[in-house]
Amino acid sequence: MPHKSTNDYDVIVVGAGPAGFASAIRCAQLGLKTACIDNWLNKSGQSRLGGAHLNTGGIASMTLLESAKIYHQLNHDLAMHGIHAEAISVNLPQLIQRKDKIIADISHNMASSLAHHGIDHIQANARLLNAQQVEVISTVNQSLSILCAKHIILSTGSSPIKLDKVQVDREYILDSISALNLQVIPKKLAIVGAGVVGLELASIWNRLGAKTILLEAQEDFLSVVDQQISGEAYRIYTQQGMDIRLGARVISAKIVNKKVSLDYQDQDGTHSLRVDKLIVACGRKPNSMLLAAPEANLLLDENGYVYVDNNCRTNLPGVYAIGDLTLHGPMLAHKGIEEGVFVAEFIAGQCMPIHYENLPSVIYTGPEIAWVGQTEQDLRAAGVAIKVGSFPLNKNVRALATGKTDGMVKIITSAANDKILGVHIISTLASELIAEAVLAIEFSASSEDLSRTIHARPTLSEAIHDAAFSLKQGLMR
Ligand code: NAI
Repeated sequence: MPHKSTNDYDVIVVGAGPAGFASAIRCAQLGLKTACIDNWLNKSGQSRLGGAHLNTGGIASMTLLESAKIYHQLNHDLAMHGIHAEAISVNLPQLIQRKDKIIADISHNMASSLAHHGIDHIQANARLLNAQQVEVISTVNQSLSILCAKHIILSTGSSPIKLDKVQVDREYILDSISALNLQVIPKKLAIVGAGVVGLELASIWNRLGAKTILLEAQEDFLSVVDQQISGEAYRIYTQQGMDIRLGARVISAKIVNKKVSLDYQDQDGTHSLRVDKLIVACGRKPNSMLLAAPEANLLLDENGYVYVDNNCRTNLPGVYAIGDLTLHGPMLAHKGIEEGVFVAEFIAGQCMPIHYENLPSVIYTGPEIAWVGQTEQDLRAAGVAIKVGSFPLNKNVRALATGKTDGMVKIITSAANDKILGVHIISTLASELIAEAVLAIEFSASSEDLSRTIHARPTLSEAIHDAAFSLKQGLMR
């Protein structure tokens, strides 16, 4: 078996999603000789960097979401501005092409960046053989080699979970990947799972005109989100036409006469539904199955997550795991990026700990949901004495001027010392607004700090100021 000398590299990064890419770049910046191995091929068999987040997840879905938003605005929001437009139509293949072009451009930029930093980009399937060796099978010519490194960083991400009796064929029964490549807008669409992915996909297809039904096994809607915000979200989404059925567990689906026939159970019994397309969006699992040879003895938990300590170290010396592969923090691209940079700096002996508790979360729906810190329900359950301030978007002048008045900002502070414990936003551009709250929490700010910080007028960010200001009135709940 051909193989290079020991310690070919200081670092081999396996996987070039957001976490692996950020890690490889930081390693190179710190003077480490680095290789980055990735096996992603697009639908035409071309190599693409960026992993699921770019190619089939967050960024892919965001490009379509933006197109869907424009179409929806033209159809629904122009009249209030006194603007009239006729014969608005969607060319879906063109929307998909635009998405593919953006992905190709970003992937190309990433490849240039790897080259610019002197990183060897290897297009291949990689498998960990032991703490210092990786088996590499080229996706270009199938050649096999073994590469060695002092440090190996595993960042192979995650993929959609499958349901036993719901066979994805990618034409009628879709996973979250094929759901972003439809060529015709379905008249009637069902989605299994009203989690982050399900809701983001629903926001695209509902806005493009598909009658969209979400089937969610849990009785509570968006249970990870602050309950007041999830209640507001439920109200807004259903008003927009989404049919959200809670406590509805999908048990089977099959394709009959070019339609999907599915069964789901709720407290009233078993129900059948016939739709044009069904999307399965019921969670993701770590891509750890083929990651390591059995004799490598890489430790996984019972759900396939790679075991890591607080410094992202696996049980093998010099081998690290980051991003969706581990149970540390949620499956978020920016969490993976932080870990990627952290591990590079850890290897170079100059790291600072990651503040997982201050990670922002975003759901890219319309309006968006974003939060940082703890929810009211969690704080109350923990018996923490809190104060709650809020401000509705329909009293914010920028929101009124733009007509995007759905939503609110909610700030939770410690009743003892006014320190901000959580900020929860449902609003247009909540993903951008949350950055101020993240910074405030990172710097241990109080609501008084926020209310004394001057915000430009008129801006949506004034709603954060005004929610903080409302706490001055001593609103105890
Ligand atoms: P999720 O766990 O958020 O939601 C899946 C939902 O499917 C759950 O609520 C579950 O109860 C439901 N479900 C499971 N089986 C079901 C069945 N048989 N019938 C009906 N409902 C069923 O998982 P999701 O949405 O796939 O997201 C996966 C991960 O990716 C999450 O950790 C999420 O944070 C992350 N992600 C984050 C994004 C962002 O930051 N905007 C975008 C996309 C994914």
